Amino acid sequence: MGQLNILNHPLIQHKLSFMRDDETSSKDFRDLLEEISMLMVYEVTRDLPTKTIEITTPIGPAKTQVLEGKQLGLVPILRAGLGMVDGILKLIPNARVGHIGLYRDPVTLNPVEYYCKLPPDVGERELIVLDPMLATGGSSSEAIGFVKKRGGRSIKLVCLIAAPEGVKRIQQDHPDVDIFVAALDDHLNDHGYIVPGLGDAGDRIFGTR
Ligand code: PRP
Ligand code: URA
Repeated sequence: MGQLNILNHPLIQHKLSFMRDDETSSKDFRDLLEEISMLMVYEVTRDLPTKTIEITTPIGPAKTQVLEGKQLGLVPILRAGLGMVDGILKLIPNARVGHIGLYRDPVTLNPVEYYCKLPPDVGERELIVLDPMLATGGSSSEAIGFVKKRGGRSIKLVCLIAAPEGVKRIQQDHPDVDIFVAALDDHLNDHGYIVPGLGDAGDRIFGTR
């Protein structure tokens, strides 16, 4: 079963509190999401392999560590996952970015696909699927399914806030995928929103609520 990692670093928790606050503006919400995503990916990439290289510092020769192995691919789920990309690219500028467009039907709560464009070498990359909200888990599960169908093999899921229902769904549907979240909230309400959550992430990022 995929492991659930809750990243309860004080800086992440502090920033998340302001994101949850209904008074926070879209601009601040976007900035905080970018900052938290950067902090989260620092933890998510903790196990990337490194190799030793020999360089010369101004003082003399040195053996140092650089990343080795597979390149990274980021796969934001549109729309809200887009808000996590820029922060991560600041730390990992060589990562390729694929996009999966899904929206959740407000009545059935089932995901509906409208776009998918992934890097051609998706099977060769360590992939990080991004979505701030893991509610029923339908959208993330479907997105991971698309990535696998197109050849993706090594996949992690990074979300800001999860509901227990969403975690369970991913662990059932994709037991090979580790999940990283900043917070595991209490439950879903009757409309499928995470409680207490932060509301509709896409609307808060893009000012469309
Ligand atoms: C939100 C969110 C997730 C999904 C989570 O997207 O960004 O993609 O809902 O819900 P689930 O786990 O129950 O599938 P939404 O459908 O509102 O689309 P948007 O990002 O375009 O606003
Ligand atoms: N999508 C959101 O944006 N927020 C939720 O709480 C649930 C789904």
